[in-house]
Amino acid sequence: MLQLESAKWSFLLCLGVSILICSIIYLKDKPSYVPKPLHHTLRCHPFPENCNILPPTTPYTRWERTECQELNFNNPLNCSRIQSEHHFIMETLSKEEEDYPLAFIITIHKDLEMFVRLLRAIYAPHNVYCIHIDAKAQEDYRLSVERLVECFPNVFLASVSETVTYGGFSRLKADINCMEDLVRSPVKWRRVINLCGQDFPVQSNLEMVRYMQHEEWRDNNMTPGIKQPENMKYRTHIKHIEVKGDYVASLGQGHKKSPPPHNLEIYFGTAYYSLQRAFVEYVLTSSVAKDLLEWSKDTYSPDEHYWVTLNHVEDAPGSKVNGGWEGNIRAIKWKDQEGIAHQGCNGRYIRDICIYDVEDLHWIIEKNSMFANKFESTSFPEALDCLEQWHRHKVLQQALAPIQLSWQLATEVNISTATVTG
Ligand SMILES: *[C@@H]1O[C@H](CO)[C@@H](O)[C@H](O)[C@H]1NC(C)=O
Ligand SMILES: *[C@@H]1O[C@H](CO)[C@@H](O)[C@H](O)[C@H]1NC(C)=O
Repeated sequence: MLQLESAKWSFLLCLGVSILICSIIYLKDKPSYVPKPLHHTLRCHPFPENCNILPPTTPYTRWERTECQELNFNNPLNCSRIQSEHHFIMETLSKEEEDYPLAFIITIHKDLEMFVRLLRAIYAPHNVYCIHIDAKAQEDYRLSVERLVECFPNVFLASVSETVTYGGFSRLKADINCMEDLVRSPVKWRRVINLCGQDFPVQSNLEMVRYMQHEEWRDNNMTPGIKQPENMKYRTHIKHIEVKGDYVASLGQGHKKSPPPHNLEIYFGTAYYSLQRAFVEYVLTSSVAKDLLEWSKDTYSPDEHYWVTLNHVEDAPGSKVNGGWEGNIRAIKWKDQEGIAHQGCNGRYIRDICIYDVEDLHWIIEKNSMFANKFESTSFPEALDCLEQWHRHKVLQQALAPIQLSWQLATEVNISTATVTG
């Protein structure tokens, strides 16, 4: 009887503790459980209190977003309205940028709002943009992106779409598909930079153009990485199989791969790059690059060895045979770098990468990489609001062309007037 009683109490205690823990977890993660609106809207909410990276205002004023338009790219498409309502900068802001056109590859699969905000942050009429939409993306998402893209002559969808698998060859193939399209574009782009839908720029287009032409990088591609470390060798020593759109599985120790073609030494690095046009042509035409691509089909996460391996080949245009991790291409807070490269993630980790919140922005701005990764418009929308305005303000300050009203993402409003009008 006594035993039963104590078992009961232990059970109740356990239950109580579990409820407490669950509540804490629930409350802590609460923002991520807010249901997504069916049709995303670019909300007109104020900037968060802790967004202290914006230029200071007077004591009587504050920054207020001018953005409240709903994302709606229905027919009939009124492009001039879409361009101005979504604050696209439709003019080249300096000769320096015009003389150094950039190409961008953006691979996306969801989050329309994030895509619109990324595109308008990097858009310039003299650049060119190839958008790869995952073949498994939702139909209404694809249609919205297709319509939006119609409004910009220098933005197009990849002519071949892959079903992209995390860690799979398809991810690498998506970039190659875009490259095939980009070399046929009439735009005389000098460099190509690849992005995913959760990147957001830190540098302005002008700053990127200057960075690319800085003597350290003028003659070289940027593919941060090192000789393949021991703990990464399984990726290319054992055969893998991609279950399209789902996962990549190892076939196990019994399925060893043949050594890489042309006696290539395999490197390991980031999937992100900035590549010279001549290098892209080499990737698409040389037998070394094509054979490595073929050989990489059954490896794990080939986008993390392909670019950096080729960029260590002597003959490849702009290669950096002694290159290492240098190249300020991405600000990423990896979980295992906590206490080393950064002091923790204020948002939350997904697959060991931080989804940023507002408090992470100082670190991002300090690093001044070309881009920061990752942002989500649904889990921490305020981080994006804050960084986006900081970035746009900088872009407009650097502009040598007259600024148009529709380019402003925020205006400085008088607080007393604002409270009167509601
Ligand atoms: C498109 O939108 C602009 C600006 O809102 C407007 O002036 C113009 O009349 C519209 N064009 C059409 C064809 O509806
Ligand atoms: C804001 O409005 C108040 C009252 O309408 C006025 O006294 C003040 O001068 C205004 N301040 C600015 C910076 O416009």
